[in-house]
Amino acid sequence: MERAEGYRAGFRTQREELSDARLPVEGSFPDWLRGTLFVNGPGQFEVGGESLIHWFDPLAMLRRFRFDDDGVSYANRFVRSRDFEYARRKGGVRTPFPGTPPDRSVVTRLRQLLSGTFPDNPVIGVQRLGGRFLAVTESPHGLAFDPETLETTGRVDLTAGLDSDLTLAHVHYDHDAETFWNLGVSYGRETTYTLFERPADGGAPTALSRLRFEGAPYVHSFALTERYAVLTINAFGLDATALLRGAVTGGTFLDAFGPLGVPTRFVVLDRSTGAHVRTLEAPPAFVYHHANAYERDGVLVVDLVAFEDERAVTELTLRNLRSDSPALPRGDLIRYRLPLEGGSAERRRLHRGPVEFPMVDYRRRGGRPHRYVYLAETADGSALPTAVTKVDVESGRVRRWREPGTYPGEPVFVPAPRSDAEDDGVLLSVLLSPPADRSELVCLDASTLSELGRAPLPHRLPYAFHGQFYGPPAPGRTMP
Ligand SMILES: [Fe+2]
Repeated sequence: MERAEGYRAGFRTQREELSDARLPVEGSFPDWLRGTLFVNGPGQFEVGGESLIHWFDPLAMLRRFRFDDDGVSYANRFVRSRDFEYARRKGGVRTPFPGTPPDRSVVTRLRQLLSGTFPDNPVIGVQRLGGRFLAVTESPHGLAFDPETLETTGRVDLTAGLDSDLTLAHVHYDHDAETFWNLGVSYGRETTYTLFERPADGGAPTALSRLRFEGAPYVHSFALTERYAVLTINAFGLDATALLRGAVTGGTFLDAFGPLGVPTRFVVLDRSTGAHVRTLEAPPAFVYHHANAYERDGVLVVDLVAFEDERAVTELTLRNLRSDSPALPRGDLIRYRLPLEGGSAERRRLHRGPVEFPMVDYRRRGGRPHRYVYLAETADGSALPTAVTKVDVESGRVRRWREPGTYPGEPVFVPAPRSDAEDDGVLLSVLLSPPADRSELVCLDASTLSELGRAPLPHRLPYAFHGQFYGPPAPGRTMP
């Protein structure tokens, strides 16, 4: 009997691009749901006939779901980055991808490393800046796209006006949605993280604070409260010597990634002035994503998903993910309590994973106390999430939605209009359904996690990373 494809379908290329497909709807989506969900993630896993090596390497594909009076429409399209054009034209890897070395000469590879050449394949998520929609990754560049056709329309230098090599994909915005905060990064033997703010109209950034660290600790996202920025500096990152050696031998970021022999550090900055408030240390952990953070009684409460170590990065090879028994580390939903004065960082597990893609009602609760965290949760033996999970962090109550044999993507929360109830809204998730050889957009009631409706797609999509919903009300998460 043929082996069931299962989660492996999430790591298989989809080359078909659809420009505007009207989707059938089973059940119903709420009448108030009007706007567009953009989701970004892998589209093509091979270059020149060879499989790329790491999950962060594949060529980026945008997905667009629009909700209007006529129902749900769908489009998908590869982002025409320089990496994409090079891969399609020359069948090669242009720049050092996280897990796949560029097939260029040693001289070119060294020059790329020393001059700070980063991929522009924007596979992580989506941002809106100055009215332009951008596909983004950890790169100097965002790739602008047409929100209707998804055609790539240009490149935006996100480091312009900053003394940084690149900026993070995960951005924060203020409740008035007029200001964004992000980090600029310069890697080397010493790594600099620059907290900056930028007007939402796309105006010039203002650097608020520059932090220097020995070595290259990795940071994927940070937390923002109403008064503070909290930078979780991972105890894991890049070894500059290994990176330099790799430029000669064909090694990659992946090969240079490991423990740095330092604790996890939480750096607290005043978000209006950039002034350093304090730094707290905790035992090593690896963090991609923060759910939320807020201040209460002189303590910063930071909820995030934490892994034990660097395997959260190094084990995300496509070979491992596609194997029969993928060895994957477990991320738990963790609460750190960071006193603003005295004391030390306290850690408590809120929910045992494996979980990832934490999400709150960001528009209304971002930086403020929250009660509910939505996550994608993974059953034993699976390489991809098998449930959407809601954790009530006050009562500890957990709700789940799952459908056997399917794999839900990041649950994007969209609040219902004119409602103050934190979980009054829906969760939108792109569900991979290998038995049907297609993907489906599912809409869950965020309060009960019951399914309201779904819209089957005409084809199957690879499993994606991050999405963002734009519409009234918007935006809805940390990538504005
Ligand atoms: Fe992320």
